[in-house]
Amino acid sequence: MSRTDFSADLPPEIAPLVTGSVLNEGRATIVVDAAPIPAAQRAKVEEAVKAAVAKRADVDEVRVVMTAERKGPLIVAVGSGKGGVGKSTLTANLAIALARKGVKVGLVDADIYGPSQPVIFGTQGQKPQAEDNKPIPLDSKYGVPHLSMGHLVAPGKALAWRGPMAAGALGQLVEAHWAADTEVLLIDLPPGTGDVQLTMVQKFKPAGAVLVSTPQDLALIDAARAGQLFDTAGIPIIGLVENMSGYACPSCGEVSDPFGAGGVEAAAERLELPFLGRIPLDMAIRQGSDAGEPPAAGDGAMAEPFLAIADKVQAWISARS
Ligand SMILES: Nc1ncnc2c1ncn2[C@@H]1O[C@H](COP(=O)(O)OP(=O)(O)O)[C@@H](O)[C@H]1O
Ligand SMILES: [Mg+2]
Repeated sequence: MSRTDFSADLPPEIAPLVTGSVLNEGRATIVVDAAPIPAAQRAKVEEAVKAAVAKRADVDEVRVVMTAERKGPLIVAVGSGKGGVGKSTLTANLAIALARKGVKVGLVDADIYGPSQPVIFGTQGQKPQAEDNKPIPLDSKYGVPHLSMGHLVAPGKALAWRGPMAAGALGQLVEAHWAADTEVLLIDLPPGTGDVQLTMVQKFKPAGAVLVSTPQDLALIDAARAGQLFDTAGIPIIGLVENMSGYACPSCGEVSDPFGAGGVEAAAERLELPFLGRIPLDMAIRQGSDAGEPPAAGDGAMAEPFLAIADKVQAWISARS
């Protein structure tokens, strides 16, 4: 994937409206800010962009994403460079922790290829109702209405979807019937930095992003790349979270660091990004997630790191609004 500047190919009145573009194996994705364009002319502008970019020899396929400033909840994306670092675990527990603090929060599981929120919330097998073709988010006993691709299609079915179809499906989740008083929508993004992520990030323009990584070097490098994705799209990074940091042996209590510890905080310092906190590697977290009993909902010590991270995210949100 490379960022490619198509401004020289575009009509001069349209070029300044382009907020992002990539070229990936002949497929161009161009994001256009539709807000200044009268609704009646948007289709025309879209066609003009398509036609202009398709003329390039290195382009086989053009996708145009028209974005417009929308009212509604503040979107906060949770991202990671790679899978398996605890992005879904953090998103769910951060949402629950925010709800416990009185924030009206909803959650979108945008990891359409590997949705895990239905299991974490214990809502797998439930089918959301629809109204005017838009799904109604599922309630949960944790005060976090949520929607996942895992609620809409059979397991594994989305695997064969290409970018445009995936982005369309995600749009359905983000533009669902969220309650009018929803303040924050947390988005559990797919791992990595592919063009589904880019389209999502640019189309829905999150207000900010939280990045999660384990302390391992490889995961850190990947997290830095994910950070660049948000930078490219002009999305501020709220901060970094270190997950699976330090392991307390359940029998002897000795704390060891299977993946190292403190690496993410050091990286945050280097990158001049806020550090939001660390979550220990704890069997109870995995067991709670698998059982539909997320630790942030409980009164145990396991809720504390999530509540502390939620404090910082809440402070960021209130400073912003
Ligand atoms: N701090 C933690 N302690 C123990 N297990 C964890 C922790 N964070 C995540 N896990 C477990 O690790 C696995 C991957 O986490 P998940 O949140 O699904 O990662 P991702 O969404 O980044 O792919 C899950 O089984 C989850 O329960
Ligand atoms: Mg996940």
